[in-house]
Formats: sequence, C-alpha cells, structure tokens
Amino acid sequence: MRLLVTGGAGFIGSNFVRWTRESRPEVSMTVLDSFTYAAQGMNLEVDGWLAANGDHVSVVVGDIRDRTLVDSLVAVHDVVIHFAAESHNDASLENPSEFVDTNVNGTLSVLEAVRAHGKRLHHISTDEVFGDLSLDAPAFTHSSPYRPSSPYSASKASADLLVGAWVRSFGVRATVSICSNNYGPFQHVEKFIPRQITELLAGRVPRIYGTGANVRDWIAVDDHSSALWRIIDAGQIGRTYLVGTHNERSNLEVVAALLEVFGRPAGDIEFVRDRTGHDVRYALDTSLIFDDLGWRPAPRSFRRELESLVSWYADHEAWWREAKTTSEERYRRLGH
Ligand code: NAD
Ligand code: TYD
Repeated sequence: MRLLVTGGAGFIGSNFVRWTRESRPEVSMTVLDSFTYAAQGMNLEVDGWLAANGDHVSVVVGDIRDRTLVDSLVAVHDVVIHFAAESHNDASLENPSEFVDTNVNGTLSVLEAVRAHGKRLHHISTDEVFGDLSLDAPAFTHSSPYRPSSPYSASKASADLLVGAWVRSFGVRATVSICSNNYGPFQHVEKFIPRQITELLAGRVPRIYGTGANVRDWIAVDDHSSALWRIIDAGQIGRTYLVGTHNERSNLEVVAALLEVFGRPAGDIEFVRDRTGHDVRYALDTSLIFDDLGWRPAPRSFRRELESLVSWYADHEAWWREAKTTSEERYRRLGH
C-alpha cells in the first residue's frame, strides 16, 4: 500500500508515520507537510529516524492548499490520511483566517483530488466540533449536533461537513474519526501538558486557565494511531468513528499529578486569564469503534505515562527549547 500522509511532520501525524513503520512494514509513505511552526525541529529526523527509514518514507514540503501538487501526489497513492491542519485553539483566537483557510480550503483540496482519482480517504477530526458538555452530562454520541465554540473547532467542523457531502454527492470513499485530547512525545510546547512539563523543568509553576475545572479525555497518541489503522482496515465508508479512552481528568487533576511527579508542593500553581469561549468538558461515546471494529486502547497507567513523558521532554530539550521561547512570549502577550 502507498499511503499519503498530510501533516505527517506534526505531533500526531509523525507518531502515525513511526507507528506505521513499526507495525506495517509493507506500507510505503509520503508525508506532505508545509512545515509550519507546529512541525518544529523536523520531528521525523529526531534520533536519526528519517535517515534510518528513508527507503520507506519520503517527505514532500508543500501546502495542502496547492491543488496541483495535491492532485499529483494523490494520483500515485492508494490511500490518503489527512492530518494537516492548524491545530491550536489559542492561536485560532488570534488569527482565525489562517485556520479557516488551511482547515477548510486545505480539506477541499484533498477532497477534490481523491474525487478526481477515486482514492480512499481517512480524515482526522476532533471532539471539539461538538462544542462542550457540562460536567455531569452524558458523552457526545454520533448523533450529537455540531456546535463548535472556537475558530479552530468551527473550521474543523466545516471540514468534516465537506467530507460528508463529498461522500454523499460524489461517492468519495471516506471515513472520519473524531478523537479526544492526545498526549505523548513530540507534542508542541504550546499545548497544555507539554507546557506544564517544560515550565516545571525550568523550575517555574504550571499555568491554569480559569479555575482548572475544565475536563478533557486524555488519549495516548499511540492509541490514536492504532485506532486509525483499525478504521483504515475495517471502517465502513461514510462513517464517523469516535475515538476516546474514558480517561477524563480536570486540568487541575493533570497538574496535580505532574506536581507529584516533580516532587513539588500541591499549591505550586498560577491561575491565569481564562481562554475566551473555553469549552468546559469533552467526552465521547466510543461504542461504535469498540463494538463494530473491536478496537481498544492499550492498558495504561496515566500516572506512569506522565512520568515517562516528563523524562522524554527532559531528554529532548534541544527539540523544544526555541519553540518554548516563542510560545511563552505569545502567552505573556495574551495574559495566559
Ligand atoms: P500539529 O499542529 O502538531 O500538526 C499539524 C501539521 O500540519 C504540522 O506538521 C503542520 O506543519 C502541518 N500543516 C499545517 N498547515 C499545513 C498546510 N497548509 N499544508 C501542509 N501541512 C500543513 O497538530 P496535531 O496535534 O498533530 O493534530 C493533527 C490533526 O489531528 C489535526 O487535524 C487536529 O485537528 C487533529 N486532532 C488533534 C488532537 C490533539 O489532541 N492534538 C485531537 C483530535 C484531533
Ligand atoms: P489545549 O492543550 O490547548 O487543548 P484543547 O483546548 O484543544 O483541549 O488545552 C487543554 C486544556 O488545558 C484546556 O482546557 C485549556 C487548558 N490550558 C491551561 O489550563 N493552561 C495552559 O497553559 C494551556 C495551554 C491550556
């Protein structure tokens, strides 16, 4: 199988590429990525990985909005998996146009190419398209309405709707997955868990938006990659699969666990300005992927996962140092 991976240099896309090399040696991959700030330090090159796997993985530097380029790449691959997106909520509040342009027009470009060449597509989305839940409400299901709150989630919701329309109107063979918050190595230091880990490594304190009562369902990025292969292998065309692990934690609980890992006092927290439109809680009903596709996340202890993530960030400071400076400058400007 020849697989085209858009956004394969980012956090989740690069994990999926590495995962695929280990579990599917017969698959050859082309990564299409424009290397925005989010693909910092060329993730795939860290620890010599790309050099060691260059026979099976090639990298094309280009933009998903470049219709000619996308069309020519889709033509010579069997399956497209579409990760490329602007992905950070706080950044979308500062620069919404870039999010709409990349996430909507970029997805349109991918859809038009798979339509023209009759290729299979898997599109990656996020639980944020549903908006938020109160702390005690039942989880989002397949029939929950799309009610996105931020420019980021609205642009992802728009992209998902385009995929559905291309399946229905043009018979495009596509599936969609909606996943909860990922954690793992190579996540950009602007995101919640890496930001707190790198603050603690620098001897500073974690920064909590608002009261810290907001809840996310944290999934290991490896589990996201394994779910994606299950959908590519056995997913039903036109279906949307909800991918989560029922590992709901408030932001305060996550920070408390990190403070423990660092042996720091429980009160070492700075509460900062809340995000505007901050979603209270996300949670997903995963029965379709559990029951129909038989997928399960690997058994894990979240506390041990955080411990190994702390070690990973401590060992890879050269990878995140520069991005950390830029990211903290922006957070200072925003009052976060
Ligand atoms: P990321 O920001 O780390 O990676 C995105 C990648 O896309 C980067 O490598 C970037 O260079 C590339 N990219 C951006 N614009 C591009 C363009 N115009 N052309 C080509 N490449 C471009 O994001 P991530 O966290 O790895 O997220 C990947 C996907 O998963 C996104 O679609 C996101 O919405 C979705 N998702 C993320 C999470 C999460 O917790 N991070 C959860 C659910 C879904
Ligand atoms: P984030 O990683 O930005 O993911 P998302 O907004 O897509 O869920 O943030 C996760 C949660 O952490 C969210 O509730 C916002 C909160 N947060 C903080 O409390 N402090 C921080 O420094 C950051 C970056 C996020």
